[in-house]
Amino acid sequence: RAELDDTAAGQGRFGGRRTTKLAIVGAGAVGSTLAYAALMRGAAHTVAMLDVNRSKVEAEVLDLQHGIQFMPMARVVGSDDVAVCADADVVVVTAGAKQKPGQTRLDLAEGTIGLVRSILPGLVEVAPDAIYVMVTNPVDIVTYAALKVSGLPSNQLFGSGTVLDSSRLRFLVAQHCGVAVQNVHAYIAGEHGDSEIPLWSSATVGGAPLLDWSGLAGQPPLTAQVRADIAREVVQSAYRIIAGKGATNYAVGLAGTRIIEAVLGDEHRVLPVSSLIQGAYGIDDVCLSLPSLVDRRGCSERVEVPLDEEELAGLRASADSLRSIARRFGL
Ligand code: LAC
Repeated sequence: RAELDDTAAGQGRFGGRRTTKLAIVGAGAVGSTLAYAALMRGAAHTVAMLDVNRSKVEAEVLDLQHGIQFMPMARVVGSDDVAVCADADVVVVTAGAKQKPGQTRLDLAEGTIGLVRSILPGLVEVAPDAIYVMVTNPVDIVTYAALKVSGLPSNQLFGSGTVLDSSRLRFLVAQHCGVAVQNVHAYIAGEHGDSEIPLWSSATVGGAPLLDWSGLAGQPPLTAQVRADIAREVVQSAYRIIAGKGATNYAVGLAGTRIIEAVLGDEHRVLPVSSLIQGAYGIDDVCLSLPSLVDRRGCSERVEVPLDEEELAGLRASADSLRSIARRFGL
């Protein structure tokens, strides 16, 4: 029988087919949930976890290893040594400070920029060809800093952006309209944070333009006030969850897994990830979220979604807010 010929770092071949390796930096609530979600969905053959806290990462790995019988075949490894990420196909960075109740994501910028500067060079050295997905907040600033520090091309390193916010928007719209969330196509664009904007003008419900949605029998229409309430609830979601349980982890772990699957499966999936914008909508030299093609090349190109005047103004304001933060920290 073909042996799993793998190196200590977890890369290898099985039956002549190349195995895939996912490395997750940070074994906190987000990183360990992301590892669990990726394993349960069979997203990669090997999941490697890295954390400076050796006992924590070893405990997370052991707990996951004990569940391998109940999930698609995979290997789980972990260490406080960056070598465990060697030759990864995708590296997801979740390490960083947690938002405290009432704190904005942008408040975390100074600390996480320093963290990016300290960990990225070592990662790129052991996994130079990996696709890098930043999840650490403030993810748009962290993505921009990581591109500067790593020198990687802008398709090879991007951020989870508003994939999570868009799933929150879709959930709330679906709940209001009385349809399955899979039948709602709507994006949040811009900052993964307070200045994000919903792209109502291009949204659809069951294939019908959302702005023309008059409601199913017995369901209320999506008035401008309802849309404003939903948009506000999307922005407030993380604050509400953090106030209740200290951190968010499930939805962001699942959103990260969706991104990983799009890369490792070369899915050419359109996702609102955070990437370096160079001219789109008159915006330049900032990382923010726009619907983009995600595949084995990473964030390969953007989809030019038509914006109305209000959406374009909101996107540009979000870009200005992010750029001013980046400049404040010397990026
Ligand atoms: C949230 C965190 C991941 O929005 O920023 O839940």
